[in-house]
Amino acid sequence: MLAVIGGSGLSQLANLDVSHREVLRTPYGEPSGAITFGQICGRPVAFLARHGYGHTIPPHEVNYRANIWALWKRGAVGIISVASVGSIRADLRPGDVVIPHQIIDYTWGRKSTYHEGQQCTVTHIDFTEPYDRKLREQLLAAASAAGIAVSSSAVYAATQGPRLETAAEINRLERDGADVVGMTGMPEAALARELAIPYAAISVVANYAAGRADSRDGISFEAIQGVLHESMGHVRTLIEKMVGCSDQNGT
Ligand code: HPA
Repeated sequence: MLAVIGGSGLSQLANLDVSHREVLRTPYGEPSGAITFGQICGRPVAFLARHGYGHTIPPHEVNYRANIWALWKRGAVGIISVASVGSIRADLRPGDVVIPHQIIDYTWGRKSTYHEGQQCTVTHIDFTEPYDRKLREQLLAAASAAGIAVSSSAVYAATQGPRLETAAEINRLERDGADVVGMTGMPEAALARELAIPYAAISVVANYAAGRADSRDGISFEAIQGVLHESMGHVRTLIEKMVGCSDQNGT
């Protein structure tokens, strides 16, 4: 079963034929909300709203461990993370869809591993390629089959939030090699890797990052919401194609 974690602008999957919802407790506390189970094109899909169904949980307070654990416990064999980002690069415009290939983590103070506590032996996961290669390829193939233009690589900078960045911070991220910036990509990706669940991300550019292009003098939250609403239609189509493309007939 494929699982989708939806971020800002995607608090439900309109194309999911819902069968039931389940509230799970985990050893790490409660997930952001109930997991919604159902089917897309007859294939099982689970959906979880990262910020809660009322969009009340800010990025630094998301219980990432509980979310990933709950999806793992319910049999997710792959996780597609959907999240909005700011664009650091001039050629990535608001509304664009990006499949990032790398991450730089600037978050702090988040519970970011399952490997801690007295009973645990020290464990270091390999995170050279933070996103699952095969799942990324499937996403790119699905985008191409659906005729949706996507950027096939980008370095994702995960910032702490909930505030947006300063213009100087964005300049620093650019010098570090980042292309897009968001607040939820970590520790989500690392936790999925710890549980060996293939994980890939769909980043939707909601705005130019602070100090760039039309965000030179500030970022309008209203403008972000408008862009997200439009682009999430593409994301739904992409997920539909992805679910359909993931079978052996490639239909
Ligand atoms: N910065 C961080 N996270 C974001 C942004 C941004 O500009 N836009 C959407 N998520």
